[in-house]
Amino acid sequence: MRLTTIIFLAGIFAFNFYQCKQSTLPGSSEHLETITAAISDDALMNADVNHGNWTTYGLNYREDRHSELDQINKDNLEQLGLAWTLDLGTKRGIQTTPLIVDGILFATGPWSVVWAIDARTGQQLWRYDPKVPREKVTEFCCGVINRGLAMYEGDLFLGTLDARLISLNAEDGSVNWEINTKNDESRILSITGAPRIAKGRVIIGNGGAEFNARGYVSAFNAKTGDLAWRFFTVPGNPADGFEHSDLEDAANTWTGEWWTQGGGGTVWDAIVYDPEFNNIYIGVGNGSHWDRQIRSPQGGDNLYLSSIVALDADDGSYKWHYQTTPGDTWDYTATQHILLADLEIDGQERKVLMQAPKNGFFYVIDRSGGELISADAYTYMNWATGMGEDGRPIEAPGARYEDGLTHWITPSTLGGHNWQPMTYSKRTGYVYIPGAVEAEPYQHNPNPETTLAGALGAQVSLAGRLYVPPVFDTHPEAPQPGMAYGQLIAYDPVKQEKVWSVRQAFHSNGGLLSTTTGLLMQGDAQGIFSIRDDETGDILWEYDVRSGVIAPPVTYMVDGEQHITLFVGWGGRIGQFGNAVDRIHPGTVYTFKLGGEAEAPEKLPPLEKSYTTLTTDAAQVNIGEGFNIFVQYCIGCHVNPGMGGGAIPDLTMSSDGIYNAYNSIILDGQLSSEGMPAFGEYLTEEEVEDLKSYILYTAEAFRNQMNPLEYMTNLATMQYMADMNPPKRKNIE
Ligand code: HEC
Repeated sequence: MRLTTIIFLAGIFAFNFYQCKQSTLPGSSEHLETITAAISDDALMNADVNHGNWTTYGLNYREDRHSELDQINKDNLEQLGLAWTLDLGTKRGIQTTPLIVDGILFATGPWSVVWAIDARTGQQLWRYDPKVPREKVTEFCCGVINRGLAMYEGDLFLGTLDARLISLNAEDGSVNWEINTKNDESRILSITGAPRIAKGRVIIGNGGAEFNARGYVSAFNAKTGDLAWRFFTVPGNPADGFEHSDLEDAANTWTGEWWTQGGGGTVWDAIVYDPEFNNIYIGVGNGSHWDRQIRSPQGGDNLYLSSIVALDADDGSYKWHYQTTPGDTWDYTATQHILLADLEIDGQERKVLMQAPKNGFFYVIDRSGGELISADAYTYMNWATGMGEDGRPIEAPGARYEDGLTHWITPSTLGGHNWQPMTYSKRTGYVYIPGAVEAEPYQHNPNPETTLAGALGAQVSLAGRLYVPPVFDTHPEAPQPGMAYGQLIAYDPVKQEKVWSVRQAFHSNGGLLSTTTGLLMQGDAQGIFSIRDDETGDILWEYDVRSGVIAPPVTYMVDGEQHITLFVGWGGRIGQFGNAVDRIHPGTVYTFKLGGEAEAPEKLPPLEKSYTTLTTDAAQVNIGEGFNIFVQYCIGCHVNPGMGGGAIPDLTMSSDGIYNAYNSIILDGQLSSEGMPAFGEYLTEEEVEDLKSYILYTAEAFRNQMNPLEYMTNLATMQYMADMNPPKRKNIE
């Protein structure tokens, strides 16, 4: 070969090498394009083999969140350190599970905002804000949260709080297409859940059963956004005909004119594709109204509320269902995490799905045809006394609160377990449940139009009358009113028994991750990220992440190094009301690896909060009326005054300037860009005055450490006075 040829060839080689280097420079838009374009149907099917990436919400189609990565293990945990952190500049709850390919994270946060982050550097690559109109904030029950994205062939799919589905180009966050998922503009719907991909389609449901939603799940063509199929979870008005034939049978389980109220049944979280049976399992939510007496007055099971429904993945047609809570009247959604697994039960290999929905029962169901294999309580409950032979819960007498008294029922509407993802460890064979224990006062409301609106939802329909006599649960295990705590449970699904559990100080903690090396990871409300032994629950390693955690951790590989990432951002339904750290810190991404030596962000000093010293001389009836207005409009976001507050402030602890600005804040929307709605359409200045007098009365009671029983009795009396002789109200004129 002649020298010139060699130089020529070397030149081409160098040029190609340079090109290649250029095009794959990690974090470049070419890099993002290449790595995300590879997420095809095949890649998603193989997500269970390649654990270096995290390409679908639950890690794989089984959604088991059990990683086979083994670089980080019990022997080297003491070397686990911080690789980097990233301040997202947010102050509300973060529930996201990021999607990760080749070290690039795609995650969601408050107000449905999306971030692309390079795990090599901890730098933001791009940010996309779908600009959810802030005045929509009264249409979400549970904070301005989002749980994550779907990824497919170079695109990302985002569901927004205002119910849009958006396809983004993963390369730079530019919009490919955007559609409105609402089928009926008169209904209030939102999206907080992560879309899923099945056979080139994006599957997504909605939230909104605290309002007037009629639930459904839809499949859209991932390339075009065209609707492929839609399955309704609640029948509409029979006079209009049914969208699919199974709804005719479903309609026979309803009474009255449920369709005028929507009926509920939103699919706001679990959507699982099962390639083995070509099924999509959806978890269906609660009824709307909550109270069956209002929703379906002559009773009935109200299908498919609180059910797991199997649909044909090709056309969305009904295959089978199992209803966890027939005739739901407690907000017992079955939207919680659905896990797929193969278990050996009575010497037989069974292909099962598992769920621990709000109602407190753990279910193991045969995926082939929907047969209930077993169900048992994973937590204390008093609404049911056990599971009947017929697969229906045996309801406790009085649990339906139809006698007009206030029944303290467990689990509460928070559920024995809520949206926080569980994990199933193939290593131990246990399912780990991030649970909670709390009782809730259920009280029938004969006048459902006038209570509980605002962000809690007009169709929550509980009365909230303090003077209605209570029925307490005196069982030694029963949580007493006002007492709530978290519970991390290791559960054996084959034996249907608790293996171990850990009591946690606060009743809302993060989702879970397990690994093949015997590690169980969770961030908690106290701002501690802990790694436990999956067999004993003992803490092996922990790290102070400054603020309470609700999101689940994830793990992945970057250039040969195993990383663990946890999104920290306190908020969500429970986090709005309460808090277990001295000070809530801004939303921050924490990433760990062996030998990581980055410095943690500064721990800010505790926020000194104290009750206002302003006082009121308002008449008792006005204070009682102020309380009623608070219960109707404010309690969806603000905790009962005096209790401390979480991501949203406790109104007894504001500065004087805030009390002076009440009219402009509450009526004119002075803080609306921060998610505090304007109530000018609903309330008058006199009513704001009543509200303020209730807040100031309460502040004084707490400041002077009034006996809680005395305070409650006084408030009940004042509420009774206001109910008997209501000051004129604009909204009920
Ligand atoms: C949709 C949720 C939501 C509802 C419903 C709501 N608020 Fe708020 N409110 C907020 C948020 C979020 C903030 C914090 C805004 C900020 O960061 O400045 C706030 C702040 C406030 C503040 C300022 C407090 C302070 O110390 O800074 C007042 C006063 C207030 N709200 C009163 C009310 C009243 C009275 C009602 C019922 C009529 C109500 N809010 C209903 C979300 C809500």
